[in-house]
Amino acid sequence: MEIQIFENYEELSINAARLVAAQVRLKPDSVLGLATGSTPLGMYAELVRMHEEENLDFSEVTSLNLDEYLGLGEEDDQSYVSFMREHLFSKINIDPEATYLPDGLAADPEEAAMYYEMLADMVPRDLQILGIGRNGHIGFNEPDDVFPVETHVTDLTESTIQANQRFFKSEEEVPRQAITMGMKQIMAAKKILLLASGAEKAETIADLVFGEVTSQVPASILNLHPDVVIMLDEPAARYLVEEYGFDEEEEDED
Ligand code: PGA
Repeated sequence: MEIQIFENYEELSINAARLVAAQVRLKPDSVLGLATGSTPLGMYAELVRMHEEENLDFSEVTSLNLDEYLGLGEEDDQSYVSFMREHLFSKINIDPEATYLPDGLAADPEEAAMYYEMLADMVPRDLQILGIGRNGHIGFNEPDDVFPVETHVTDLTESTIQANQRFFKSEEEVPRQAITMGMKQIMAAKKILLLASGAEKAETIADLVFGEVTSQVPASILNLHPDVVIMLDEPAARYLVEEYGFDEEEEDED
């Protein structure tokens, strides 16, 4: 794992966008695995700026998002399909037909999950963007006794419901289930970029980097992937540095 620490959220976002932009410039028909949540917002804003001011071209890019709430669709402000349109897809020249998310409104969610798994098999990601939950989840792969393998319907944990209620009018409105890619599709990406910002992620990040690989910290599986970049702002890196003595300069020399 390569760990990069930035002074603040803005620097983190700019550098994350640069990595995505390099991927798209080097391989214009890249398949990007995309994530929602607060963390990638700054990166998406920077990608939009690069599209507007620096001709970053998404016309040949395909994207697959990690997950979608069950019961929400494009008419709902809080669905992930709406999030992606609002913050990225409507502001760049990606072909809307080449942007995929699981179908949160499917009559048969299990079947929708199977369909998404098949689709993901057909278009492997060149670069997968990930956020991380305070409980260590990636996508909506919540802590459990085993690592979930395939795209599946999942119950959100209480900690995730509470963390996400800030986007809804009340806790009751937060969906209780989602369709999420499992670990197989996440780990199949050629390269993975995980972003974390803020002190509330600091302990989880230290568990991910220095703890054992365990399904109780789902992101810890990334230790088994050959090409992972973790970008952190200083608050999210605090435990690594203060409790574990992590030194970025030393790592660079290895
Ligand atoms: P956040 O969510 O970026 O809003 O903190 C990350 C996640 O839950 O994966």
